[in-house]
Amino acid sequence: MTTYLIGNWKMQLGEPDSEALAKDVVRLWAAQGVGKDGTAVVICPSHMAIEEVAKVVKGTPVALGSQDAFWDDKGAFTGEVSPKTLKELGCEYCIIGHSERRQHLGETDEMVNRKAVALLRNGITPIICVGETMEERRAGKRDAVVIGQVRGALAGVKPVGTQKIIIAYEPRWVIGTGQAVSPSDAAEMHHLILTALNELFPAEVVDRQCAIIYGGAVDAKNLAGFLEVPVIHGVLVGGASLKPQEFVAMAEIIADVRKRP
Ligand code: PGA
Repeated sequence: MTTYLIGNWKMQLGEPDSEALAKDVVRLWAAQGVGKDGTAVVICPSHMAIEEVAKVVKGTPVALGSQDAFWDDKGAFTGEVSPKTLKELGCEYCIIGHSERRQHLGETDEMVNRKAVALLRNGITPIICVGETMEERRAGKRDAVVIGQVRGALAGVKPVGTQKIIIAYEPRWVIGTGQAVSPSDAAEMHHLILTALNELFPAEVVDRQCAIIYGGAVDAKNLAGFLEVPVIHGVLVGGASLKPQEFVAMAEIIADVRKRP
């Protein structure tokens, strides 16, 4: 089972800074001779920087992801980004349904679903973000909201061949706060999501083709706690992914934890 370290750079960097950060991550991670098997390090720059970052990561152990994609490959969709073009540029992963897009751009489960289908069709692994707001949590709706988002995103989806699906549980009220939920809180949600996946797909598909990762204020200090939980298959990192030393230190922590018997 692969353990994922996925950096979401959001709209924090321009093109030259993205290129420089990608170079740092590649240099630092490539310098690590061991432990790369089973640790997937993915960086997701803004669309504006994808092409330059793609050149930097090509042929290295660092993979490229996008922060969004449209649900059609081509057509009259002003301002949108084609999943087919992303694939041509070397994208292997794509975040969809991030809470910032749900909040500011009205991204719905139906849109996320269409995007997931388009990405899988193009050979890109969707990283589907789900998570409740503080109000929903306080109202006792946490589980229903998250399960609804998982089911909505995956309606009619059937991963075939080597297609993979990553679900990122990101409690919305935690993102960017520097204060993550406890690993046991995340574990509870991961078990819930796993149950939902097992209702949607055959057990061997869930086992081999689905991963559930945690996101929300993860850094090099709290990462190990999450990795102790067997149902947590990695992390989606915002703020800490902009610091190359810390981000690569996190990749090393993952590789170390994986080496333990
Ligand atoms: P954060 O962001 O690590 O800065 O909380 C995570 C995310 O938005 O994916």
